[in-house]
Amino acid sequence: MHFSHFAVALATLAGTAWADFPSSWGPPIGGGSGGSSGGLGANTNGTCNDLNFPGLNCVAPADVDRFVSGYTYLLEFPGGPDFNSTAEDILAANNFTVQSDSIRTLSGLPLGEPAYPSRDVYIATQFVTPALPTVTTIDTFASCNKIAWRWTATGIGSNALPVNGIITFDIDTDNNQIQTVYSEFNTAAFETDLGE
Ligand SMILES: *[C@@H]1O[C@H](CO)[C@@H](O)[C@H](O)[C@H]1NC(C)=O
Ligand SMILES: *[C@@H]1O[C@H](CO)[C@@H](O)[C@H](O)[C@H]1NC(C)=O
Ligand SMILES: *[C@@H]1O[C@H](CO)[C@@H](O)[C@H](O)[C@H]1NC(C)=O
Repeated sequence: MHFSHFAVALATLAGTAWADFPSSWGPPIGGGSGGSSGGLGANTNGTCNDLNFPGLNCVAPADVDRFVSGYTYLLEFPGGPDFNSTAEDILAANNFTVQSDSIRTLSGLPLGEPAYPSRDVYIATQFVTPALPTVTTIDTFASCNKIAWRWTATGIGSNALPVNGIITFDIDTDNNQIQTVYSEFNTAAFETDLGE
């Protein structure tokens, strides 16, 4: 139950640490789809109308879609032609982190620390991470400066079980980028799919 390849990927910033990855995972086979977006506080002009956030800029519906579809691309197409530009577009340059005990569990690392401590590390590491072949959006919900996103990943390994996850984003609404990613998902189903 130890994901040495994840540990290697998290510990190294370049190279082909994924040679031991199951060949059945294969290349990406398709795009995510569906879902809805919107919610409290977001107008098309991005101005907050939520009484909880008076005067604060709020994420606009078009940007909710930009963040979710962009992050879906990063999961489905590591190393893809638009990977770096998408990451640099949607992720904050400064103080970006991914918080995920799920990722650290798969990596066999101690819990409670960032899975990715910066955007540069995210790009360098996720760039060489195996694709999640299909990430399908189930639903999204936006508050003023936070986004909640439920998704299902399929096509992993033996594809025995779908992997359901929830990601929330904290948004830097001044720069209109994702400041922090909180990502948790069904690591037991993930391990079953990989036969580990
Ligand atoms: C943004 O839209 C809201 C209504 O949706 C309106 O009340 C507000 O004045 C608009 N703000 C700007 C800066 O245009
Ligand atoms: C990043 O974090 C540091 C240390 O907390 C802080 O001084 C700096 O202002 C932050 N930068 C941004 C752009 O938020
Ligand atoms: C994208 O980032 C990766 C990882 O830092 C790097 O190896 C690669 O050269 C970059 N690609 C482009 C086109 O900049």
